[in-house]
Amino acid sequence: MPDIEYRFACLAADVPENGAKNVNLNGIEITIFHTSNRFIARSGVCKHNGFKLELCERQGDSVTCPLHGWKYNITTGKGIKPSWTSLDSYPLAIKGEEIWIQPQAEATREDDFDTSAFDW
Ligand code: FES
Repeated sequence: MPDIEYRFACLAADVPENGAKNVNLNGIEITIFHTSNRFIARSGVCKHNGFKLELCERQGDSVTCPLHGWKYNITTGKGIKPSWTSLDSYPLAIKGEEIWIQPQAEATREDDFDTSAFDW
């Protein structure tokens, strides 16, 4: 696998606490979540049908997609509803006031299950 370098994503001030911001790095949509004590980089879109996660409803450490109700724990990246899905994780570094992300997922998706055939 090629070694992907960190890319500038945005300023830390661009992601409000308890908020989220999507960035596109190397053609990969990534959501930066700001929790009470850190920034986390996850898949930028809902694994069900691609809704931007920055627009989803936050409830503490979880986020719910408004289209069909899929829910994720943003701290672990694991799906809550359904539990078999997960969000990709991306290495994130803070350099001064800047957020840098390595646009290469740390772990292989656990859900290779194709849901596109379902009528949700
Ligand atoms: S697109 Fe997110 S639950 Fe369907």
